[in-house]
Amino acid sequence: MTYTATTRFENATPVWQASHAWLRPDRKHLRMRAGQYQQCPHCQAQEAVRIRAHLRFGVREWYDQGSLLHCTACGEVSLLGEDRDTIEAARPDVAGLPLTAVDARMWSAKPTFLNIEPTTRCNFECWYCVGRHMEQQDIKVENFAKVLDNFPTVETIALVGEGEPLLHKGYFDMVKMARARGIRVMMISNGSAFSESVIRKICESGIAYISISIDSISPENFAASRIKGDLNRVLDGIEKLCRYRDANGYEYPKIGVKGTLFKHTENELLPIVELARARGAEIFESFQPLNPHKQYIKLYPKEQVRQLEFLPEVSATIVRDSQKALTIMQSVQAFCEEEGIAVDKNGNGNGLRPNCDEEWIYTLLTGDVTPCCQIKAPQSPKWNLFEHSLADIQADHDYQNMRFNLFNGLFPDYCDGCSKTNGR
Ligand SMILES: C[S@@+](CC[C@H](N)C(=O)[O-])C[C@H]1O[C@@H](n2cnc3c(N)ncnc32)[C@H](O)[C@@H]1O
Ligand code: SF4
Repeated sequence: MTYTATTRFENATPVWQASHAWLRPDRKHLRMRAGQYQQCPHCQAQEAVRIRAHLRFGVREWYDQGSLLHCTACGEVSLLGEDRDTIEAARPDVAGLPLTAVDARMWSAKPTFLNIEPTTRCNFECWYCVGRHMEQQDIKVENFAKVLDNFPTVETIALVGEGEPLLHKGYFDMVKMARARGIRVMMISNGSAFSESVIRKICESGIAYISISIDSISPENFAASRIKGDLNRVLDGIEKLCRYRDANGYEYPKIGVKGTLFKHTENELLPIVELARARGAEIFESFQPLNPHKQYIKLYPKEQVRQLEFLPEVSATIVRDSQKALTIMQSVQAFCEEEGIAVDKNGNGNGLRPNCDEEWIYTLLTGDVTPCCQIKAPQSPKWNLFEHSLADIQADHDYQNMRFNLFNGLFPDYCDGCSKTNGR
């Protein structure tokens, strides 16, 4: 035990290094609120953060969900005397035993849900869509098959990304491949491509859920954000799909509704939900304001950026009306629970500060696994699901370090602007 003027602590750095030296706070993380930092007993910098970790005392006595202080300036790790006191009060059996191992790999590590981007191509040109600025291409069906091989524990696949999935010529081949392995398939669509033959294939393929984006009940406002989109065509498509499904005795797909709202449409959430329900939609997924992510803002047309000034108001209206929408439609969370889909546990608090912990994997059409669906640039060639198994990706030290930082609310630069970082 070492003492500084004010702090009793044990140097836990050698134990941390022996356990997983590669896990370390990103020094260039987005600054948190001042109160989130503590003084490091080693270097005295007011730059240390509490980190959750399982702690082993002696030969085999594990204490789950303990707390260490990790300095983001000098990198040293400490077990504070006050924390040892708390542990020993709860677990007298570890009193006096030395700290011998730590395990800070506490993020969700057994995903069964895969989001994968089938295409970046689209027949709409929504002005807020980053997909319009990405290379326009499709995933190769044979690469999709490699992903299935490399992620053998996947139970649900959402074919979703910055494009319209139904434009992919091999779309139903991929769905078939997944279904043949007993994998549930979900998708998000702009709802523009529900021809009779597509509707038949959707129902025959057993796609469980299709979420359809609707930004307004006014055809003019709809087309103003979903450029080249036709609201009535989308609504007619939903109705035709539901009618065919019901007339032919198919249970699936269930139809969900989502969308993006702005200041001039902020009060349209409930009217959209009513309108979609009247045409057959039954599940309320989510509505969002314009995404304030820094990487997205730079792609918005200049005249639209001022929409972000209204973000707090629009967000508050969405929160308020989403509650009411749940009296009209089933929530997507309830649907997933009913179906046994483990999707929405992201953002599990670590009890220390706002953090980010995804239970699902997001993969670009290049096969690159990214930290989340908002990160469109591959982060490492080692995280490619065409080339590597998910198990190998998860075992990669850089991948673990990325998850470690996100789990602990130490957000890298590329998260700047994401709503999850707002409370940091
Ligand atoms: C990227 S789209 C892809 C799937 C499909 N083509 C569609 O539009 O539904 C998925 C959803 O994200 C929303 N979205 C896309 N970019 C956005 C942004 N910059 N801000 C807010 N919402 C956005 C769209 O409104 C849509 O509901
Ligand atoms: S329909 Fe979807 S993918 Fe297409 S431009 Fe709009 S948001 Fe992007």
